[in-house]
Amino acid sequence: MLEIKDLVTGYGDLKVLDGVSLTVEEGETVALVGSNGAGKTTLLQAISGLLPVWSGDITFRGQSLPKLQPHQLPALGIAHIPQGRGILARLSVYDNLMLGGYIAAAKAKRSARMEEMFALFPRLKERREQLAGTLSGGEQQMLAIARALMMYPSFMILDEPSLGLSPLMVETVFKIIADVSQMGVSILIIEQNLVEALHVADRGYVLETGRVVLSGTSAELMGNDKVREAYLGI
Ligand SMILES: Nc1ncnc2c1ncn2[C@@H]1O[C@H](COP(=O)(O)OP(=O)(O)OP(=O)(O)O)[C@@H](O)[C@H]1O
Ligand SMILES: [Mg+2]
Repeated sequence: MLEIKDLVTGYGDLKVLDGVSLTVEEGETVALVGSNGAGKTTLLQAISGLLPVWSGDITFRGQSLPKLQPHQLPALGIAHIPQGRGILARLSVYDNLMLGGYIAAAKAKRSARMEEMFALFPRLKERREQLAGTLSGGEQQMLAIARALMMYPSFMILDEPSLGLSPLMVETVFKIIADVSQMGVSILIIEQNLVEALHVADRGYVLETGRVVLSGTSAELMGNDKVREAYLGI
């Protein structure tokens, strides 16, 4: 579904990603883990067309993404939930959801889809008139996921959804991500929370200073000595 091949990119003359290759198959959940500054968000920005690709290629269902503008991705079925969630703080929960369903393919079904989202996220239903910026961190993450689902995506990209959440809320958010996968949405999830991420993912990649140093099934990575030492301290 998504294929990244020998991707090199960065900012100005600072090279951040140095030949990254990665795939996500239809229906899969794939985790990309790595410590602060490894280049995880940079990779997502390249996928979303927010950062020019220096060399290599990114294709989605055979179509080359670097040739497209960022605003063209939702119509392909790609939903990107950025680090920090990207919701509109000064708009209500309801208005954020309405805006999520703006693309042509979703617009006609917006009201029905919103009811589905309220069934999935009762907390958001209770708070539908509340300004998004006044929601708790966990509720904001729920809203970001619900807003992305409003466009009926086939592929969802999440950048550190558990960041800054309480342990209980982290569990809730990962449960929601598993539900999204059950809906048939393919997922690329970036996380520092390796254990939770590999728990929901089929496979994973470990990124270190712009290079993939390890990849495998979630079980393989969890059993890898280097991973255990670097991320679990055991
Ligand atoms: N806009 C920018 N201009 C210049 N350098 C940047 C910019 N954004 C990121 N970088 C640098 O690129 C490197 C990778 O950053 P990136 O945000 O991709 O890391 P990350 O893996 O997402 O880290 P974190 O887990 O902290 O979110 C870092 O050294 C960072 O300082
Ligand atoms: Mg990041």
